[in-house]
Amino acid sequence: MSSTPKVQTDADAARLAMTLPRLAEMKRQGEAIVMVTAYDFPSGEIVDAAGADIVLVGDSAAEVVLGYPSTVAVSLEEMLMLTAATRRGVRGALLIADLPFGSYEASDEIAITAAQRFVKEAGADAVKLEGGGEAQLSRIRAIVGSGIPVMGHVGLTPQTAIALGGRRAQGRTAQRALAVAAQARAVEAAGAFAIVFEAIPAAVAAELTPLLEIPVIGIGAGAGTDGQVLVLHDMLGIYPGRAPRPAKQYIELRSPILAAVGQYADEVRARSFPTAEQAFSIDPAELAAFREGLEAG
Ligand code: KIV
Repeated sequence: MSSTPKVQTDADAARLAMTLPRLAEMKRQGEAIVMVTAYDFPSGEIVDAAGADIVLVGDSAAEVVLGYPSTVAVSLEEMLMLTAATRRGVRGALLIADLPFGSYEASDEIAITAAQRFVKEAGADAVKLEGGGEAQLSRIRAIVGSGIPVMGHVGLTPQTAIALGGRRAQGRTAQRALAVAAQARAVEAAGAFAIVFEAIPAAVAAELTPLLEIPVIGIGAGAGTDGQVLVLHDMLGIYPGRAPRPAKQYIELRSPILAAVGQYADEVRARSFPTAEQAFSIDPAELAAFREGLEAG
């Protein structure tokens, strides 16, 4: 890593930190809310500098940075470490951490303890948890009651995708769309300050969004929600192949990164890197004395 110090610009100083009342106001004013994931110091710093309103340390980290086959595998300790690293890079945006699978389901007390660890140890501003069933509603009420803001998440909930029949769009019949609506309303009533709609029909999300007072952030839920969220690594084109359906790849970084590392490897093998430009010098007299010292044993 370069040792370039972080310089605060005038634009940084002028930018106010995001707050929950400000997010609520953005919904009322019809201002689109920008949320994006980040998982470490450099990605947190860069999405914050790019002007994201909310940075989510998503449990998508399991797949995109830790290489697990699904989000289920990531541990509480791993998520805490990633959140703490991201916190060091994020200054203006609201920082939300995903409660990983297995860290909140067992009881309200366990959920509060996990949420408190994200706030106290990792510096998160809020936590997110998936689902709108009775147990999850109780967890939301308990965590909010303990003073920690909670973002809800309904529709496709990857942590319980197996129970949903796989990673597929939800709410595609009237009855199922009504079930999503009931969950979203219940999550709001439980005290969540915002909610993610994942992979539900655009028309369903557009009907529901104005019926909720809290901001609705969509992924694969069309353009009618109050804001959008994307997984950073899907946007950046780091992996081979196409980004998953709801994502848009804004840049293809895999090729230039491969080319850069490949060029470095070629230069090392050809012994053309490093050059004098990357090396440190020593005063010739000191070098001569050093050589004498070596010879003297
Ligand atoms: O884990 C994650 O990145 C998420 C977003 C896709 C909302 O939950």
